[in-house]
Amino acid sequence: MHYLNRFIIIVIVGFILLAGCSEAQTDSTHSTHEVTNDALPVVPKNVQTPKELESGEGLFNNNCARCHGPQGSGTTQGPPLVHKIYEPSHHADFAFQRAAAQGVRAHHWKFGNMPKVEGIAQEEVVEVIRYVRWLQQQAGIF
Ligand code: HEC
Repeated sequence: MHYLNRFIIIVIVGFILLAGCSEAQTDSTHSTHEVTNDALPVVPKNVQTPKELESGEGLFNNNCARCHGPQGSGTTQGPPLVHKIYEPSHHADFAFQRAAAQGVRAHHWKFGNMPKVEGIAQEEVVEVIRYVRWLQQQAGIF
């Protein structure tokens, strides 16, 4: 009788533990980056580049547009930079400097790696960033 009681208690405790485990929540808070092309923000067609951003635009067209497209709209070689994931709070200016200086290992998209950009100075990348931020603003990203 004594042993039987003990056995029953062990079985009950076992059930309680099992129930506790199966109730464990699955982690639904984990979020992955959205990399769909749905509803891509666009720069309005008729918008005129301000004078002070023209050199940044030229630098962008010469060094980045080959892959990132006219006005950062993306190509088959690279992602659009006018995209929510590249807004300042997700990819701060240093991410642009690092991309130009060191290249980027593919992680958000399936375009492959970005090679470092030869022959562009840090001050020139600053101008490129200003231009891209302006484009992002025109598209209403931030
Ligand atoms: C040869 C093609 C190519 C050129 C030229 C190029 N990029 Fe990229 N870039 C890419 C690709 C591809 C990616 C995406 C990598 C990935 O999957 O996240 C990328 C990603 C980036 C990112 C995101 C970095 C990060 O931390 O995720 C920035 C910022 C960027 N490029 C800026 C630039 C700028 C500025 C220039 C011009 C100075 C430029 N790129 C020129 C192909 C290019």
